[in-house]
Amino acid sequence: MKKRGLFIIVCLLLGGCSQKPSLYTEKQQEILKENEVLEIAENDCEQVASLQLMLDEGEFKKEHLNAYCRLQLTTADHVNFLLDHEVSDEDLYGFSSIPYFREENLDRYLKYVGSYEEKVVNVNMNMDLEPFETTSYVSDFSDMTLLVNKFWALPEGYVPDDMVEVKYPCKIGEDYSCTTMSKVVLRQEAEIAYEKLVEAALEEKGIHIVAIAAYRSYEYQRSLYNYYLPIYGQELCDLYYARPGQSEHNSGLAIDITFDHINYTEIANYEAYDWILENMHQFGFILRYPFEKQDITRYGYESWHLRYVGEEAATIMYQNNWCLEEYLARK
Ligand code: DAL
Ligand code: ZN
Repeated sequence: MKKRGLFIIVCLLLGGCSQKPSLYTEKQQEILKENEVLEIAENDCEQVASLQLMLDEGEFKKEHLNAYCRLQLTTADHVNFLLDHEVSDEDLYGFSSIPYFREENLDRYLKYVGSYEEKVVNVNMNMDLEPFETTSYVSDFSDMTLLVNKFWALPEGYVPDDMVEVKYPCKIGEDYSCTTMSKVVLRQEAEIAYEKLVEAALEEKGIHIVAIAAYRSYEYQRSLYNYYLPIYGQELCDLYYARPGQSEHNSGLAIDITFDHINYTEIANYEAYDWILENMHQFGFILRYPFEKQDITRYGYESWHLRYVGEEAATIMYQNNWCLEEYLARK
């Protein structure tokens, strides 16, 4: 007992017997020990919080220890990927702060001129590419926000398996441009929403919305495109007619409307049209090709072409004034 008391007094006087508390939790220490870097981490790490973050997120990589200790990290997302690609510290901070950064696009982001937000959003929307320069294929058909455009196609032969007849189609002979298609069909979820939209428009504005076109088969879209190609020429044809497999009409989620026997190309001139623009998101619809978004959609303005995306997505797009590409670029 006497010896121990003396030992404690000497320790207190010298201040060196108790161990210095670690900067890291036990779990963090374990990982650092396993990697044989605990001593460096305790004594030579300037940004302990950054290292702790990487450890806590399960993202610690020994080869990047120096970088973690140098950088002031606020997220672990994509940090290792960016370090692996030896980007500058500025690029690392910039890109890792954007939640919709996509690793597969890094080379294109680096070439795109603009803020980090602009680089990521615009490249995610393929604004750095010419139409049809690349083609990806839709695979998740349960997603009502699926993208079909000049970069995203439906697989050839795709036919939605849940289509139903539209309750409010146009009438041949009464509605301008009402085609001779025997049935106007849409995917079921979109059709139910369309019915509600039509009924609300009737109740609120006294207008009769009708569908002049909805689902179109791959073959029908091909014949449509090939019919207009020699008439308009390539550039103009591509501005208004989608190539087969790249039309939203092939997805069963798009619908061309008119109302009260008005020529569908003129609906925007009528006061009731504003009600449609202001309210259709509540039913899950968006105007797919707005006038002011032509540089993004790569299609000319179509006042009549509505797209079903579901109420939640449509409302976010309405509130932010985003078209579908702008919405999806941030996912
Ligand atoms: N008119 C639209 C772009 C289509 O053909 O799908
Ligand atoms: Zn259309």
